[in-house]
Amino acid sequence: MKTLTLVPIGGDLDVTTGSTVIRGLLARDLRLDMACGGKGLCATCHVHVRQGADCLTPRTPREERTLGMIATADADSRLACQAHVERNGAVIEIPIGFYVQSYEDIEGKIGTKAAFDYLHPITGRLLIPKGKLITRTIFTEFAAAVNELRSLRESQE
Ligand code: FES
Repeated sequence: MKTLTLVPIGGDLDVTTGSTVIRGLLARDLRLDMACGGKGLCATCHVHVRQGADCLTPRTPREERTLGMIATADADSRLACQAHVERNGAVIEIPIGFYVQSYEDIEGKIGTKAAFDYLHPITGRLLIPKGKLITRTIFTEFAAAVNELRSLRESQE
């Protein structure tokens, strides 16, 4: 077993040596979507490794490519489904926001204010900030993001 530390929510997380970061996060009931099924192709498991990057396996070429498309990625970014835990000491920060994955995520909320940041499931781009009114026009942009995700999933089948 190895231990990860979570910020800003706090607390440590025990994970099996060699398993992925996302397996540990899901075991803790943290909401991390796996829109691409854990294949390293989307933004929904994006995390920042604030310390101890060398406690995880290095980025794969596919992961590098995907991170290059994620609007909020930085030098500390990893895809939790691709990073395997090798040693104790990694400090993991989960970006805050909700990744849109289906029409139902937003359809019934037109005319209300966004309760949180809604994010694009592939690029991590901010689609609508928390507090902004959700309009029909904005819904069209959501629909485009959902269709992109659907295409990505179909291309992987
Ligand atoms: S679940 Fe899609 S990149 Fe990790």
